[in-house]
Order: sequence, then structure tokens, then C-alpha cells
Amino acid sequence: MEDNTENMNEAAANGEFLLEAREITKHFPARSGLGKTRKFISAVDGVSFGVRHNSVFAIVGESGCGKSTLARMIIRLLKPSSGTVLFKGNDLLAMEGEELLAFRRSAQIIFQDPFASLNPRMRIMDALAEPYRIHKLAPRNEIGARVAELISKVGLNEDALSKYPHEFSGGQRQRICIARALSVSPELIVADEPLSALDVSIQAQIINLLQDIRKGPAISMVFISHDLRVVRYLSDEVAIMYLGRIVERGATEGLFSDPKHPYTEMLLSSAPKLKYSREESSKGLSCRPASGDMPGIVDIPAGCPFHPRCPKRFEPCDKLRPELKASGGSFVACHLYQ
Ligand SMILES: Nc1ncnc2c1ncn2[C@@H]1O[C@H](COP(=O)(O)OP(=O)(O)OP(=O)(O)O)[C@@H](O)[C@H]1O
Ligand code: SF4
Ligand SMILES: [Mg+2]
Repeated sequence: MEDNTENMNEAAANGEFLLEAREITKHFPARSGLGKTRKFISAVDGVSFGVRHNSVFAIVGESGCGKSTLARMIIRLLKPSSGTVLFKGNDLLAMEGEELLAFRRSAQIIFQDPFASLNPRMRIMDALAEPYRIHKLAPRNEIGARVAELISKVGLNEDALSKYPHEFSGGQRQRICIARALSVSPELIVADEPLSALDVSIQAQIINLLQDIRKGPAISMVFISHDLRVVRYLSDEVAIMYLGRIVERGATEGLFSDPKHPYTEMLLSSAPKLKYSREESSKGLSCRPASGDMPGIVDIPAGCPFHPRCPKRFEPCDKLRPELKASGGSFVACHLYQ
């Protein structure tokens, strides 16, 4: 098919990817009136990408563009309507029994809301011990020591272990969720906006914790965020999503210093200061462009979905849909680069 697929196949054949999404799509039934015709929305539409070993792959896009739907599909919390997800070259949807259990251990997800992710009636000690029991990762008499080690790894005191989730701040709860994800020594962590429910002052601490984790033993991360500055700081590769599709994908530094797709340009120009520093205390830089609103996913424009907002649109843009194609080291879905 397009250059994008050829390049992906080559990298996959070389075993470069820990996880690979191939043309995955998710349709949801659209809420419609009384008519009998069933309508669907494409929350994710033919998305392909690969997450390399020991690297961070970021997914960026406005609210409602399909990021969480994509995250849930690559971790098998949601079944794609079509397409394939491969983990270490094996079809995720075909996994069962021991293989599926091993995947559940290898791939962990951290959600935006750390409170909803923790059982309010479970002490932290039990919440952190649970994965060791489920996956039989340590003898019963060693679990306590493992849990104590974990809690200090995420910067909390051991007295946290006897408490319940409501006794902690949002930042502390997110640390606990991260500790639980780390307990099983995962190979992949999918972090779906892990910072956006936290105060800006706390965000920097969690960013530092994630940065430390990625420098640790072999681990890859899919990092979903609205904050372009954090994405630039943390990720190796990035995909920009618009209305369920990837419009640009490439190495983070190249994409930030030389954005190609007009939507990427628009996002970056709306975020003037993109260097993240550990001392940073100003507000995060949201990927909400200054110009216009994203249309609803129910009525996606024909041709290039971005054309109603695009300052560079030209003749074929409102009729012909651009495919994601290789261009100067990255991949772009825009007629300017076809
Ligand atoms: N279970 C569902 N049923 C119907 N529609 C859904 C469902 N889950 C998501 N959607 C729709 O799919 C689209 C993508 O949603 P998704 O949550 O993946 O976006 P997002 O990029 O994660 O947004 P945000 O940045 O606000 O978290 C939205 O239009 C949403 O309303
Ligand atoms: S295809 Fe056309 S409308 Fe779409 S981003 Fe490129 S120039 Fe703009
Ligand atoms: Mg989301």
C-alpha cells in the first residue's frame, strides 16, 4: 500500500517493535434519533504505528480525537472493529490462557484519574500486593518486602502502606498507581493523560518519576498527553492525531523543530514555549490550537478532515483524502507532501 506500511513492515520484520498497531479502527454506534438506520462513528480510523523497544511513543491530539480509544485497544481492554495489534510479533486478539496472562503482566495502563483507578476499600499494602498474588511473582513471605521496596521507589514512605486511597493527595495516588503498574516489571506502560488531573506543581514530580522509570530496566511507554512541552521532554517518537487518524508521525525532535502537517504547525504555533524544565511552574501547554474547533466525530469532513480549518488548503483538499506517506524522515497525511 502506501510507503508508511512498507516502512512499518520492514521495521516489524527486524523485530524493532515491542508493540505494533496495524490499520486499527474502532466504530461506535452513533447516538441517533428515532430512525432505524444504524449509524456509526469512527473514533479511530485505520491507525498504524510501532512502539520500539526501550522507547517512549507519544500520542497527541485534541479532546475527542480518539486517543483513549486507541490506548484501550492496544492493551486489549477494547476490541478493534478491524485491524491487528501485535505484541512481540504475536496477534493480541488471538491470545488466550497463559499467553494472555503473560501479556496482562507485560503491559500495564495508568489512567488519568488515579482515584478511580484504586479500590477505595483496599489498603495500599493490599492494592500493591494483589499483582504479586495474581501473577504468582513472589513467595507469600516475600511480598511485604517487595511492596515496601516499590513504595519507596515511587517516593512514598512505608507508612503509606497501611492507609486507604482517600488519605492521599492526587499526586500521591498517581504515584501509587505507578507503583502498582511497576510491581509486575512490565515491558510496556500505556499512560493515558497521567498528569492532567494533577496540580501543575505536582505534575513536574510525576514527570520526573516517569523519566526515571524510562531510564530503568528495559521498558517502553505509550504516553498520551495534551501537554506538548511534556511530550517533547519525555518522548522519542510522536504521533499527532486528528479526528481518529494520525496526520503526522515521526521522531519527536524532528517533528517539533520541523513540523510538516498544517495541523501540527497550528498546534505548535499555539504553544510558544516548548522546552520543559524541571523547575517549570507555569501552566502546561495544552494542544488546543488557537484557530477554530475540531468538528464532531459524527460529521467528519470529506476529503482531508482538516480542510475546513486549514490555512493551506488547495484544490484537492475538500475532495480527496490524503494518506499517511513518508516525507523527509517522518510520515505526513497531507496533499502538500504526496
Ligand atoms: N464507548 C463509547 N461509545 C460511543 N462513543 C464513544 C465511546 N468511547 C468513546 N467514544 C467517542 O469516541 C470519540 C473518541 O473518544 P476518546 O475518549 O478516545 O477521545 P480522547 O482523544 O481520549 O479525548 P480526551 O482528550 O477528551 O480524553 C469521542 O467522540 C467519544 O465520544
Ligand atoms: S491536505 Fe490540504 S487541507 Fe489537509 S492539511 Fe494538507 S493542505 Fe491542509
Ligand atoms: Mg482520553
